[in-house]
Amino acid sequence: MSKLLVFGNEKGGAGKSTLSMHVACALLQSGAKVGVLDLDLRQLTLRRFFENRTGFAENHAPDLPMAHVGSINPDSNNSEDQEFQSVTTELMTQNDFVVVDCPGALTKYSELAHANADTLITPMNDSFIDFDLLARIDPETNAVKGPSIYSEMVWDARKARSLSGGKPIDWIVARNRLSATNMHNKRKVGEALENLSKRIGFRLAPGLSDRVIFKELFPKGLTVADPSTLTHLPSSMSNIAARQELRDLMIELNLPNFKVGF
Ligand SMILES: Nc1ncnc2c1ncn2[C@@H]1O[C@H](COP(=O)(O)OP(=O)(O)OP(=O)(O)O)[C@@H](O)[C@H]1O
Ligand SMILES: [Mg+2]
Repeated sequence: MSKLLVFGNEKGGAGKSTLSMHVACALLQSGAKVGVLDLDLRQLTLRRFFENRTGFAENHAPDLPMAHVGSINPDSNNSEDQEFQSVTTELMTQNDFVVVDCPGALTKYSELAHANADTLITPMNDSFIDFDLLARIDPETNAVKGPSIYSEMVWDARKARSLSGGKPIDWIVARNRLSATNMHNKRKVGEALENLSKRIGFRLAPGLSDRVIFKELFPKGLTVADPSTLTHLPSSMSNIAARQELRDLMIELNLPNFKVGF
């Protein structure tokens, strides 16, 4: 059975597109069949990434594993519900996993993706500004005071899913752009997230550090999951660590019938 992996966070710039392209390539390089769908109809970063990948494959690597790229037609006569169902059903029939990148704001399509997610991955920069979209905290004690708008939206999606008898959504918050310095902030955000994960029921994934390598391969449509014969990355400590971070994230996603193969 195909699984829908949704990358969502109403906070702009949290790393949804970055993580979605890395996870899609990690799945491809592990032998899975992958569909992708970009719901950020203005930026279309994930779609652009796969256009770049197609161009690179045509010129340099005909055997590079490619995803099936689905797209929403904004001019369709279908309702948004019908359009979403028709595009995702087709992708899910053809693939083991479908990776969906949401925009950094609530739209009807993003709401539909959250409601239909098997796994929801929420990247979060290591900042209390990003944390504020998940929950409000006491400024003195850092104790969680209550969920914020994004968590409430996920909560509603989960409630609707359980009322309709569907399988629960596995919600994972992945910290992104972790810095090698600023340990105090890192620890404080980490503690607040641990606290919150127990209160509102998400799992915490190790996430990715802030590294140039997570963005510089974009024009080629490649990631650290692709072979170094194509990326031409030197085997520096930093590049090895970047690959390991992606592997650890993939393991933490705990996807059915999936074994890391890169
Ligand atoms: N781990 C990382 N290391 C270095 N740069 C990163 C990392 N993650 C994201 N970035 C950079 O941060 C910026 C925002 O990332 P990205 O576009 O993935 O976020 P987003 O959540 O998709 O944003 P939006 O809400 O606008 O769609 C980009 O310039 C991206 O290259
Ligand atoms: Mg994006």
